[in-house]
Amino acid sequence: MFTPLHRSALFARQPAVYERLGMRAWSEGLVPWRATTCPLLADVEAELIAAFEADLRTAGALAAAEPLTIIDVGAGTGRLLFHLAPRLTARGVRAHLVATDVAPSNVAAWSAHPQLAALAAEGRLSFEVFDALRPGPARGAAPTVLLAHYLFDTLPHRAFRVTDEGCFEGLVDAEASPWAWRYEAAARPAELSGRGPGTFLVPAGAAEALEAWRACFTGPLLVLAADKGVEPRSATEDPQLARHESVSAGVDFDALASLAAPRFTALSPHAPSHLFALHAFVDARLEGPALSRAWAQRGGHNEVLSLLQRFEAALKSEPSPDALLALLDESQADPDLVAQLAGRLRDAPLDPAQARRLVDLLARAAQQHFVFRQQLDVPFSLAVTAHHLGALGLAVPLYARSLEESGAHPATLLNLALALRGLGRGAEAVDALEVLLQHTPTHPRASALLAEWTGR
Ligand SMILES: C[S@@+](CC[C@H](N)C(=O)[O-])C[C@H]1O[C@@H](n2cnc3c(N)ncnc32)[C@H](O)[C@@H]1O
Repeated sequence: MFTPLHRSALFARQPAVYERLGMRAWSEGLVPWRATTCPLLADVEAELIAAFEADLRTAGALAAAEPLTIIDVGAGTGRLLFHLAPRLTARGVRAHLVATDVAPSNVAAWSAHPQLAALAAEGRLSFEVFDALRPGPARGAAPTVLLAHYLFDTLPHRAFRVTDEGCFEGLVDAEASPWAWRYEAAARPAELSGRGPGTFLVPAGAAEALEAWRACFTGPLLVLAADKGVEPRSATEDPQLARHESVSAGVDFDALASLAAPRFTALSPHAPSHLFALHAFVDARLEGPALSRAWAQRGGHNEVLSLLQRFEAALKSEPSPDALLALLDESQADPDLVAQLAGRLRDAPLDPAQARRLVDLLARAAQQHFVFRQQLDVPFSLAVTAHHLGALGLAVPLYARSLEESGAHPATLLNLALALRGLGRGAEAVDALEVLLQHTPTHPRASALLAEWTGR
């Protein structure tokens, strides 16, 4: 059955798909998360939020003791808020964070997550089931920041084809394989005025969400949306949708800016990108000088895309240790990036100053490691590198975290035993070997070491 794209089952079943997947969506790599939850994006956003807060206080719209409310809509793993909280504190921003999602299974997972639960216990974070499209009755006039990271691409999109003959709406049969498309004559929507021939996706769901948020949060509002954009499609091509277990579509932020006006002023990246960029939608009543400055200096620069592109290039080439260390510094010691490059740096000849920089990066990465089951054992990768550099005091707790998160792997237990022994903690080293031998009784190296260390 052909249905206008935005009303099709493809989008209607998104909440159920995410509910069924739970954290598997991210831990099994079905849905991308690195760009939208990384420390660098958290830092850029903390800067923008601090500027928004300064404008509010100058305008008398936020009392000195009143905290800002920051709501992550469709928060996924919760990793972004984990990185955002300390960066707001460092800038003196008083804020209450709310992790929200349409999928109750995600909300339940956050409540059981050790690091998020710790923030909640401090009263800095709460969790809530929240539908971006149906936020419920008005919640009052407190100033609010809403984060929408890979959310607008997930909400419904309409499809339109513009040709010399006129404008047509795209209808999809999502039961057909591959999906079948049909185009029916339609009035050209105002947000596509001025466009030449082509096939366009209009982020109708994102526009509806902005409208619903405006009605729900009646005070000053800032929306930060990090998402992929769109590539031009000819009038003979069908719309481009990415298909994971869920679906997503690049967000036409120009169309969204037009739909959101005049209630919101859109702040756009200095150089548009179809791959990824941060966009802001500011309450048109309150676009203050501090936020404009912060956008000019940081928000509009797409620092995250630039970093990740150079990171991908570094994985495929052989940059100098200094270049790798600089890249990791720029990432704000993103644990996932440090863990991926740690092996490369371990094998490189480092001078003492470079080794010290790497140990410092490893320590910062260890502090920021967000626990969620994923393919890469981040604590182990950091630990082995710290161990190699002789930073045993750093390696030991990282091996312990790897054991907690990824289970009793023989290599982790053996390395832990060696690091403990190196620290003079002989009895604990023997304990680690014994645990190893319980799991792998025939492990030759562990047996030999146990004999050497205990005489048994
Ligand atoms: C692609 S994931 C992005 C997750 C996270 N923001 C990130 O960047 O890693 C989309 C998230 O939006 C949630 N979601 C989907 N539809 C939603 C809706 N109508 N309201 C609120 N959340 C929604 C999903 O459950 C999922 O957590």
